[in-house]
Amino acid sequence: MRDAYFFVARCGELLPRRVVTQSVATPDRRAAARRFVRGTCVNAALTDMTETDMTAPATIAIGADHAGFALKEWLKARLAESGHAILDLGTHSADSVDYPDFAHAVSDAVVSGRADRGVVICGTGIGVSIAANRNPAVRAALCQSVDAARLARQHNDANVLALGARLLDRDGAAACVDVFLATAYEGGRHDRRLAKLSPRPAGDSDPGGPLESLRREGV
Ligand code: RB5
Repeated sequence: MRDAYFFVARCGELLPRRVVTQSVATPDRRAAARRFVRGTCVNAALTDMTETDMTAPATIAIGADHAGFALKEWLKARLAESGHAILDLGTHSADSVDYPDFAHAVSDAVVSGRADRGVVICGTGIGVSIAANRNPAVRAALCQSVDAARLARQHNDANVLALGARLLDRDGAAACVDVFLATAYEGGRHDRRLAKLSPRPAGDSDPGGPLESLRREGV
């Protein structure tokens, strides 16, 4: 992605983006990678150790069905104006299509590291959010307010934003995108909760959860 390099603060390594992406498989490495300082040259990256976000140019994968097509086109132009690289995964017209195809494409792009974040759009945002969340490495957040978009990043480390083109106007959608890209994950207590989002082994329906406690108590 252009000439961007990341300094992974906790690891003390300067790595090309793709190497960082591949090295973040464990929770520790992922947490470290989230605290990177981003820069287009080595020296700039080493001095300012603040948490950064996607206000710096990033690659955004975007996908929509026919209901979200017009909003996608508008957001795409807006994001490009802000200097982001756009991976437009369709659809490319207002002809009727199936929203899961585009949500899956965006999910794949984010999880593979081809994109830093994803935006998926359908009429309500519901279908694309359900589809995107079928990928276990995706945390897609359906947001209808700026507060939700902010909290989706701060608490849920959401990597995909889902929007409903029939429920939000353009400015509302743009505000959600801006906050989603500009907000950092808070980490801390949220790491433990994110870890519990992992798919459960088959047959392990409530490992150590509230229902198991009730069962033990004979309720
Ligand atoms: C398409 O009419 C509509 O069903 C779709 O865009 C979406 O809202 C589904 O969740």
